[in-house]
Amino acid sequence: MFAPVPLRPGIVAPNGVWLAPLTNMQSDADGACSDAEARFLGMRADGGFGLVCTCAAHVAQDGKAWPGELGVHDVAMLPGLTRLAARIHGTAPVAGPGGPPTRPLACAQLFHGGLRANPAVSGLPTWSASAWEEPGAPAARAATEADIDGVIDAFVAAARRCAAAGFDAVELHGAHGYLLSQFQSTVYNTRSDGWGGALEGRARLLRATTRAIRAAAPGLALVVRLSPEDYGQARGIDLDETLQVARWLVEDGMDVLHLSLWRAAAASTKRPDAHPTALFRAAVGDAARIVVAGGIWTRADAEAQLALGADAVALGRAAIANHDWPRRVASGSPVTQPPVDAAHLAAEGLSPGFVDYMRRWKGFVREA
Ligand SMILES: Cc1cc2nc3c(=O)[nH]c(=O)nc-3n(C[C@H](O)[C@H](O)[C@H](O)COP(=O)(O)O)c2cc1C
Repeated sequence: MFAPVPLRPGIVAPNGVWLAPLTNMQSDADGACSDAEARFLGMRADGGFGLVCTCAAHVAQDGKAWPGELGVHDVAMLPGLTRLAARIHGTAPVAGPGGPPTRPLACAQLFHGGLRANPAVSGLPTWSASAWEEPGAPAARAATEADIDGVIDAFVAAARRCAAAGFDAVELHGAHGYLLSQFQSTVYNTRSDGWGGALEGRARLLRATTRAIRAAAPGLALVVRLSPEDYGQARGIDLDETLQVARWLVEDGMDVLHLSLWRAAAASTKRPDAHPTALFRAAVGDAARIVVAGGIWTRADAEAQLALGADAVALGRAAIANHDWPRRVASGSPVTQPPVDAAHLAAEGLSPGFVDYMRRWKGFVREA
């Protein structure tokens, strides 16, 4: 867990304990990175995380899903993104065993909400693979060819922007039922043209985006986050199909596969005798690194994933409550677990708005 993890020639994470992407509502209204957001992420870099990922950051205004969401959609975001990458890198380098000192890697999660984007926040209508309506949400229209071409271009431009800002990696958000996952889904995608139908069609947007970023930004490590099977808003996602998508993504130039499991200790739903981490390791062989997220709180939780074949773990809630989880665990110090006092979260670098957002996560914040 504390050994360096090479992602791509010249890009090495100093260890295998990474910060998961965490929506934190701390960006400015126009998507610019705020001091509060840079402080929260910078503290995790200082705390020993080997790779620090931003929250889901919209690549186009019509993909924005939450107020205070980071933007990578416009050249005006560049100064804030540059300051953020520098803040993450500014952490004192860690000496690798027998090798040169390495610094934490900075990664940006590239996101489009599709039908989960919010017109009240973005000011624009929503669209997805197919038209979609559900109670309490604005209706989404079906994507045109121009939408699809435009969003691939937007992902590529965002990746280039992140490279220019000094990031080491970008992560495509292909999980959790957002745009790229909506296209993969048999529920959300009912198209009968080349962007739907069989898995080849449903995976085409994700694959085309991966290949386009790989070609446009060869200096970046390319991570792709997937939901292996249905969970929450990720619907119509089949385990065996996602295994095939992972194999294709290796051909397309993905360096790191990020499995979002929510409960990493649990077996697959479709195949209760098998664990997703082991299945995906068998599928991609040693052609890609694998990072796993979901309910990792202790050293034993992390080591269990490495034993199943992961190269790294990504922490969400444990990292919100413990900015220095890697240092604590390496030295055997105790880790704070929920419910967590609001004052403790403030000391861990969360602004009042982020603490409020964490109240939506059941049992996380201790209520007075
Ligand atoms: C407050 C919060 C915000 C999150 N935001 C994102 C996000 O922007 N992008 C994403 O892919 N996952 C997001 N997730 C999911 C986490 O990255 C992670 O996969 C999940 O929380 C499970 O890991 P954990 O049990 O260590 O928290 C979020 C989770 C939380 C708790």
